[in-house]
Amino acid sequence: MSVTETSGRLGWWLEARFGLSLHWGLYSIPGEGEWVRAIRKMTVQDYQPYFESFSPDPNCCREWARLARQTGAAFMVLTTKHHDGFCLFDSRLTDYTSVKAPRCRRDLVREYVQALRDEGLKVGFYYSLVDWHHPDYGPVYGDRQHPLRHDPQQKQLDRSRDWSRYISYMHGQVQELLSNYGTIDLLYFDFSYWDFAGEKWCASDLMRMVRRLQPHIITNDRLGYEAIKRSDPPDYVGDFDHAEQNLPREPVRNRSGKPVPWEGWFTISNSWSHSRTDTDYKSPATLVRALVNCVSKDGNMCLNIPPDEKGHISPEVIAILQTLGQWMQKNGESLRGCVSAPLEKPEWGRWTLSRDGRYLYAHILDQQIGHICLKGLRGRVKNPIVLNTGQPAYLTGYWNPGIQTFDSPDDIFLNFSPEVARTYPLSDPLDTVVRFEVINDPDEIERENRRLDEEYARAISRQPLP
Ligand code: GLC
Repeated sequence: MSVTETSGRLGWWLEARFGLSLHWGLYSIPGEGEWVRAIRKMTVQDYQPYFESFSPDPNCCREWARLARQTGAAFMVLTTKHHDGFCLFDSRLTDYTSVKAPRCRRDLVREYVQALRDEGLKVGFYYSLVDWHHPDYGPVYGDRQHPLRHDPQQKQLDRSRDWSRYISYMHGQVQELLSNYGTIDLLYFDFSYWDFAGEKWCASDLMRMVRRLQPHIITNDRLGYEAIKRSDPPDYVGDFDHAEQNLPREPVRNRSGKPVPWEGWFTISNSWSHSRTDTDYKSPATLVRALVNCVSKDGNMCLNIPPDEKGHISPEVIAILQTLGQWMQKNGESLRGCVSAPLEKPEWGRWTLSRDGRYLYAHILDQQIGHICLKGLRGRVKNPIVLNTGQPAYLTGYWNPGIQTFDSPDDIFLNFSPEVARTYPLSDPLDTVVRFEVINDPDEIERENRRLDEEYARAISRQPLP
């Protein structure tokens, strides 16, 4: 079986496989999603009451970090600034920050970074390229999603507007974020659209600065469109492909067919930030399946959770994450540091493979009506262990020797008991993971096949009834 090597900057991220993100800011107060200003066409003044009243509870960042660790996440990403332009960090370039908000007066990014480090998590920043608060950004430059897109005055380019001033501001803020908080592990830019992309953001200069300030940082690929998929990517290319609410059908490749690191970014309900009406939470089973699905195709998963206006996570979300965390505790080794296995997708679930190629993991997601068939793996795997119980499982031939099966002689069957042909309910309804040792040595493959042949011959010669 093939093995994917990872070394260098992306190493920890490729090992991690699972992280959490948070969308949190002034928009968490009305609780209608982070686009509320644009959807309701609010002016800065209309939105100002949220700036005045923003007053998160003292220990919210610690609450997030603890929860992330308990869930089995390796990293977290926070919206240091979303499209509304409000900053959760101290900035010399604007007063529109949590430090200047009269009832807050805290550098929340600093608290967040400290809380994550204390829990041993990698630190991620989300930073919005879009900024509805900045006077030099807006409809006049063709932004059709801006809150003031219908205001004719906003469309007049007068001397007071200067796009390059916005670019200096935006670059300056990224510089602050990457200079004032120690080592930052991840940076998510969001987002490029229409002609707001690439060099309109002076993206090559921006990326050069990012790499200079934090040489080990890992960035998403949103300074342009799919730069990472091009055979000849521009200078501002990020480190990984990043889609929202979207899982690829197979491992992601660039236009020349080379594998591309990728991450699927998903919301736990339907909105990114706190919504008073959206409680349509994904079940632990859906989340485990999504995570397994991502890793089975060489990807990471980042799950977004929405703190409320005070910074708390709802009890429903906490309960879902705790269930996910319990599953991760027993089964995490089947995902962390794992890659896609060079095998066809099985009927019953998914495969993952440890990066060194030693262990193969069967994620049995669906109860089977008959045998669990391991297609083409006869003699190729041994010593199955069920991860959540620590009990052995059994590899056998067809249950009724001498009688025709639908399967090929290269197939082998997995049983949860030495008594074959008994259907056991899966021991973990979320995903019952079975770990196999992979046999690569041709002599051992031959020995294992001989053992299976002998066992089969013994079964055939057995008297059918006493
Ligand atoms: C979408 C949302 C945006 C969110 C982003 C996360 O683009 O509109 O608010 O931050 O997804 O990738």
